[in-house]
Amino acid sequence: MSKTAILEIDGNKYEFPVIVGSENEVAIDIEKLRAATGAITLDPGYKNSGSCKSDITFLDGEQGILRYRGYAIEDLAEKANFLEVSYLVIFGELPTVAQLEKFENDIRKYTLVNEEMKNIIDGFPKTAHPMGVLSSLTSALTAFNPKVVNVENEEEMYTAVCKTMGKFLVLATWTFRKTSGFPLNYYDNTKGYVENFLRLMFELPTGPYTINPVIVDALDKLFILHADHEQNCSTSTVRMVGSSHAGLFASISAGVSALWGPLHGGANQAVLEMLEEIQKDGGDAEKYLAKAKDKNDPFRLMGFGHRVYKNFDPRAKIIKKAADEVLATLGVNDPILNIAKQLEESALQDEYFKSRNLYPNVDFYSGIIYRALGIPTDMFTVLFAIGRLPGWIAQWKEMRVNKEPIGRPRQVYTGYALRSFKPMNER
Ligand code: SDX
Repeated sequence: MSKTAILEIDGNKYEFPVIVGSENEVAIDIEKLRAATGAITLDPGYKNSGSCKSDITFLDGEQGILRYRGYAIEDLAEKANFLEVSYLVIFGELPTVAQLEKFENDIRKYTLVNEEMKNIIDGFPKTAHPMGVLSSLTSALTAFNPKVVNVENEEEMYTAVCKTMGKFLVLATWTFRKTSGFPLNYYDNTKGYVENFLRLMFELPTGPYTINPVIVDALDKLFILHADHEQNCSTSTVRMVGSSHAGLFASISAGVSALWGPLHGGANQAVLEMLEEIQKDGGDAEKYLAKAKDKNDPFRLMGFGHRVYKNFDPRAKIIKKAADEVLATLGVNDPILNIAKQLEESALQDEYFKSRNLYPNVDFYSGIIYRALGIPTDMFTVLFAIGRLPGWIAQWKEMRVNKEPIGRPRQVYTGYALRSFKPMNER
């Protein structure tokens, strides 16, 4: 691989360094482009632009590879648990038994949310979407934890990580409890992280809540599969907001808002709503495939396509297998799973989808499992956020520890040239 790239503008040649990543990804370092040439690059949606170097996640869209800190997602989903993977993603190594035990216990120190936070959640109407409430509550945590984290101090950073992991989970479930009119639950420090998610969501004061290990396992795996995904829209948002040295809670709150969009994490809710619409409309998958291909129809096949994966999303393969297993174990026969499989089968043979490399992504099957586990549809993206939290924390921490500059992209101005002011009577 040559060490430099040559750019020619107006007959002048400019050389820029070429850097190669540890998995042989090649990048042209254009840090000095504008100073040397006066020109900038233009890349809407940053489809060809790298924003940073990172050691956290590697994914190969052509090969369908996803690894956290070098470990294959297939191994982690099969052999690890969510807190173990969270520790790996955030601190860089798989924890020892003692480290994992300490991590879990240190998170437990911060699972109590300030009672005054209830005044904030009470201000929302029951109809508020959980993602909007979660973003607001996460930002509000700053009010109760105003001390700015010194990222150079490992102990302070570790405490901020534990605090975020503990409180975010509780607040995420409070969004459901609020819209359901249920009393807000507290974390039970004698139980596990994923078990607590289920308790916090579904335990009522009127009687004991039985935790189903099948559901715990399925959720644990789903959270692992969502833990990080390099520089996706919401993670790039967390990095961008954090690059101004805004706090961790404020940065994650912004990430929650970015994830909410139906083109990103909101797709898992949109997939279920699409499948239910197809079912209501007679279950004709072909009709909806035709709509997705019709350029005059705004309908998109939600859960299909990906900015990076152009063969298959390895997470979708694991989730599809888990969907079959979980529904069979729970004895759930959900007709929309069959509609989903029909859609996938037809799309994979259809020229429109094949030529555009459109395959099921992580959101296509996850909603079917969530529904079988009794999770309400408008909470699906909240579960995505719970899974993605360690990734957001890890990426924010890496960006700050690496002292990355404040994010401030350029633009190509296409508006008016200078105009003289027009007094009111001449407009
Ligand atoms: C996530 O980036 C990440 O890593 C995200 C994520 C993560 O873990 O963080 O993986 C999670 O967000 C998964 C994606 C969830 N979103 C959806 O399922 C929504 C439906 N998918 C699309 O809207 C779309 O595929 C995107 C947004 C996911 C990707 O869009 P791109 O890369 O910008 O591609 P594009 O919109 O330019 O589409 C290219 C072509 C277009 O057709 P042409 O103009 O070439 O004729 O493919 C078509 C698009 O119209 N197309 C679709 C389609 N997705 C793309 N046509 C029908 N249905 C679709 N779903």
